[in-house]
Amino acid sequence: MNRITSPVFALFLLTAVVVVIANSGDKLVRKKREWILPPKPLKENVDYTRKEYISKIRSDFETKGIHYALEGIGVNKPPFNVFVVDPNTGFIRVTKLLDREEIDTYNLSGIATFIDGREAEKRIDIRIKVVDENDNAPVFGDMEAGEVKELSPPGTSVMKITATDADEPGNINSQIAYTIRWDLCVKSSALDREKVDKYTLTVKGQDLNGGPGGHSATSTVVIHVKDVNDNLPTLEKVQYDGSIEENTEGVEVMRIKAEDLDLEASENWEACV
Ligand SMILES: *[C@@H]1O[C@H](CO)[C@@H](O)[C@H](O)[C@H]1NC(C)=O
Repeated sequence: MNRITSPVFALFLLTAVVVVIANSGDKLVRKKREWILPPKPLKENVDYTRKEYISKIRSDFETKGIHYALEGIGVNKPPFNVFVVDPNTGFIRVTKLLDREEIDTYNLSGIATFIDGREAEKRIDIRIKVVDENDNAPVFGDMEAGEVKELSPPGTSVMKITATDADEPGNINSQIAYTIRWDLCVKSSALDREKVDKYTLTVKGQDLNGGPGGHSATSTVVIHVKDVNDNLPTLEKVQYDGSIEENTEGVEVMRIKAEDLDLEASENWEACV
């Protein structure tokens, strides 16, 4: 009995050993490539400072005696120590609230070294994206006075009004300053210089498509009505309609950016696109 079964048993064992070696070799290679727990994007103005980690670096090269470090803007270059790493665990923490309008992406290097200072791994790139929050109001630029002839037909363009918003526009890679433009148009053809030769309008720009929680800013524009050789104009009562959606497409899923424009104290003006 023994003499028959033992060769079979031995063969089985041998096969099993080969399989184990193949598996462990495979595992070692795979683990070494993944020595980071990739960071999730962090929202600006949100406090993550009490989180144990926002990302982890960990070398499987050797379990003991590995020392972890970080480098980059936000660590060892100003602003210093926004991110810190525990040298023993490789846990990366954030120490401050982030401001996307200051830095929108942190590009850090993760470093694992042996006790003797030799680098145990290839440095790893850690990219931390700061997600925008609508924390800036539009800002109007300097505006010169506008001019329009009396009796101008509805739709006559009077002037362009410009504001900027520091928050992130629809495109994730866009520049920080976001420009909003409106066209101010004549709404009613009843402009009569002999009655009113100058209008002062309050212009209000609001982000988030004028929706709740948006920020707004106001400014004044002066419009001079220029004389034409006219007869008595016919007065036409028009309904005041003071809001418009800016013709910008809000592209990013979580943010819609568009503006409205309220023109107060006049029924003769409107914003046109
Ligand atoms: C990180 O890299 C991205 C893309 O190259 C760049 O736009 C960004 O400004 C970098 N961040 C810093 C803080 O240098």
